[in-house]
Amino acid sequence: MDRLVICGKRPLAGTVQVSGAKNAALPCLAAALLTDEPCTLRRVPKVRDVATMCRLLATLGVSISSADDDAERRLEVTETTNCDAGYHLVRQMRASICVLGPLVAQRRKARVALPGGCQIGHRPIDIHLRGLAALGADIRTDRGDVVVEANTLHGAEISLAGPRGATVTGTCNVLAAACRAKGRSVLRHAAREPEVTDFISLLQKMGARISIDDGSTDRVLEVDGVDELSGFDHAVIGDRIEAATWAAIAAVSNGVVDITGFNPTDAVAVSNCLSQMGVDVEVSESGWRTQTVGQLKNCEIHAKPFPAIPTDCQAQLAAVLTQAVGVSVVKDFVFPERFGYLAELARLGADVERTDVSAIVRGPASLVGTEVLASDLRASAALVVAALAAAGETTIRRIYHLDRGYENLEGKLRALGASVRREADDYQF
Ligand code: EPU
Repeated sequence: MDRLVICGKRPLAGTVQVSGAKNAALPCLAAALLTDEPCTLRRVPKVRDVATMCRLLATLGVSISSADDDAERRLEVTETTNCDAGYHLVRQMRASICVLGPLVAQRRKARVALPGGCQIGHRPIDIHLRGLAALGADIRTDRGDVVVEANTLHGAEISLAGPRGATVTGTCNVLAAACRAKGRSVLRHAAREPEVTDFISLLQKMGARISIDDGSTDRVLEVDGVDELSGFDHAVIGDRIEAATWAAIAAVSNGVVDITGFNPTDAVAVSNCLSQMGVDVEVSESGWRTQTVGQLKNCEIHAKPFPAIPTDCQAQLAAVLTQAVGVSVVKDFVFPERFGYLAELARLGADVERTDVSAIVRGPASLVGTEVLASDLRASAALVVAALAAAGETTIRRIYHLDRGYENLEGKLRALGASVRREADDYQF
């Protein structure tokens, strides 16, 4: 295991190019299961979750080769007998669930270990399963695995709404199966996240017949099932969550930072929030130029489904708020328990408090470097933001969480002028 050692309070400046979006790449890679034809996915981020997904797909008979320093993956199904996504890989990455819909659609059978809870809270898959059942699949559980079988799939009217909004990976799974069902399906309350829209455009390239109605507050997808899908050549969208993370980093490091390679319309709520905090955000077609001029101000953050501030950004923004004058309130309506990072921010000297439903952040706090422990991907990113704002050296342990979702984080930080090094860590947890 590695640790990151960051020396904070250095001004950062320059340009940082975000990688392809992890959360778009994962279902897009799994889409290779939907066809016998060769597929090419471009702009694939070099992160651990992608490596895990590729290992999982290999166990399911997908042959994968890389070009362009791994950013381009060529995938082709060469063997179709195994339909079992084993526990050892699902345990490592909850997004392994993305293979469920494509397996049911193409092989009419899937066995996937139930992913269970994780650091960010309760994460059931009941909506995925309800949707597949409505399409005609037979579902049972067997010793901790969910087993889905479908001799035939037929069109159906399905709601993808959950108690905390639409499900992102659930929308991708049910949609993949609906694309291969007989007849028309109508998926209501489908997730509107840009990563889902990217997945839809990939399916359309494969010949899927999907129309999107975003006219109302709810997204409705009309799907006319087809007998087969073709291969694809698709480039993944830029990572709006990585962009927001860089903006948070830039906000605590006085300097002009250009964040490029993503679509700013995918992150309007974040740029509005940063502006409210007093960050000067100049929006262009391909990104943001950010600069903090003067003192940061407090604000209220409500993380909700797209187009609101994403749950995947609230921890990083909370870390920025430790440097803002006044009392800020952070609420996460998608994962209300996603505040595991607060205790670690407190170790750096942040004045934070957890109430039943929110985090209270009082600032500005004088952060001082110390040892902290990363607990999940975005919590780790929040610790990087805080470490850059802290005086002296911060050691972030268990950074394999960061490696799951950020490509070359240290390299990109160093290019902006940060003092950061990765070291092997033999610390016993
Ligand atoms: N939910 C249900 N039932 C379901 C599915 C979800 O009640 O069957 C609930 C969840 O418990 C949660 C809410 O619905 O409260 C939303 O969960 P969702 O299913 O949308 O999450 P997900 O698809 O498992 C994806 C991202 C997450 C991101 C969430 C929310 C991928 C691979 N993962 O997860 O990303 O936080 O959507 O936007 O796309 C991350 O990148 O750090 C990350 C955790």
